[in-house]
Amino acid sequence: MSIETVNVEISANEPTSYPIIIGNNILKDIGNTIKQSSKAKKLLIVSNKTIYPLFKEEITSSLEQAGFKFEALILEDGEKYKNIDSLQIIWTKALEYKLERKDAIVALGGGVVGDISGFAAASYLRGIDFIQVPTTLLAQVDSSVGGKVAINNDFGKNLIGAFYQPKLVYADIKTLKTLPERELKVGLAEILKYGFIEKTCQLKGSQNNFIEFLQNNKDKIYSLNEDTVINLVKHCCKLKAVVVNQDEKEAGLRVILNFGHTIGHAIEKCSNYQGINHGEAVAIGMKGVFSIALQKGLICEDYYNESINLINEYKLNYKIPESMSTKSLLEAMSLDKKIQSGNVRFVLSTNTAEVSIFNDVTDEQVTKSLASLK
Ligand SMILES: NC(=O)c1ccc[n+]([C@@H]2O[C@H](COP(=O)([O-])OP(=O)(O)OC[C@H]3O[C@@H](n4cnc5c(N)ncnc54)[C@H](O)[C@@H]3O)[C@@H](O)[C@H]2O)c1
Repeated sequence: MSIETVNVEISANEPTSYPIIIGNNILKDIGNTIKQSSKAKKLLIVSNKTIYPLFKEEITSSLEQAGFKFEALILEDGEKYKNIDSLQIIWTKALEYKLERKDAIVALGGGVVGDISGFAAASYLRGIDFIQVPTTLLAQVDSSVGGKVAINNDFGKNLIGAFYQPKLVYADIKTLKTLPERELKVGLAEILKYGFIEKTCQLKGSQNNFIEFLQNNKDKIYSLNEDTVINLVKHCCKLKAVVVNQDEKEAGLRVILNFGHTIGHAIEKCSNYQGINHGEAVAIGMKGVFSIALQKGLICEDYYNESINLINEYKLNYKIPESMSTKSLLEAMSLDKKIQSGNVRFVLSTNTAEVSIFNDVTDEQVTKSLASLK
């Protein structure tokens, strides 16, 4: 059984780091690993109704063996619970349980549980230790790394939050076995994104051949082959970590992680966050930005076709719903957080696995790309 560790240096200016441990069937050893990363005596596990019953046995017996005191707080399942009410519930539970400054919150779940628990940890007693135990592919390759924690409100997604780094990320790929395929595909969309932006991430020592790896390992990835998935999660974590290290607070390079997200977020918003999920919207968004890059002459037709084929081969061939008007999508894009000094920012491919940020994409170019996605 292989266990891999990625050490994430938080920022170029800050010498602190935290480990991401990745392995298969490692939940049963989590207790001792937490001990090495945190001085906590008491832990508050935050999870949800779907996830906790699946992994309760393994996690609690490991924590008991390691001598921790702990309680679990089980939230309702769903993005709509990533709000101030759930945050209140966590704060109140932490106060009732008398969690102290040196104690920790453990997030057991996907990005929703991770984001909300991270914000609770960041704000409770002005910050207590935070441990991520991601159980979705998206959370393992993306949301548990990088320190963005947040809740949603009526004005939009992730508008209230903080940058708050975990003490430990503990990713057991065995948890992915119970994940519905639709949720697996959300993670796969983000993974393909890493392929398309890989060179620009500037990971030292990387061969920058992740696209090739993805082209050659689709079946192994879909069947959750142990070594393949561990390598996949490890590589994506390294890519995200190296980008975040260069730009923790999204002042520059980190924007490239939004490849495909400008159109993707607009689709999610126009669907009222119902019917079409984040990964599906990002998959459409990536095709959209490839089309814009082609129109602008930034990439050649071969790379365009190869990229679209890869997205389709991963069964991420989604369409914009007919009922969603181009006008409403353009409006949603212009209200997105990624707008800067009046211009919508797009991350566009400029070459194989290379991207740049553009502020000069015209409505006509976006309209043409959206038309090809219906
Ligand atoms: N912080 C960041 O940097 C960052 C990055 C990307 C996304 N996000 C956020 O992440 C959230 C989406 O995360 P997600 O895609 O993990 O969704 P999610 O947390 O809603 O999980 C998806 C579904 O899978 C279920 N589930 C989770 N693990 C399971 C398992 N092992 N077996 C069976 N079912 C399981 C969940 O209960 C849920 O129903 C969004 O709120 C998004 O804003 C944050």
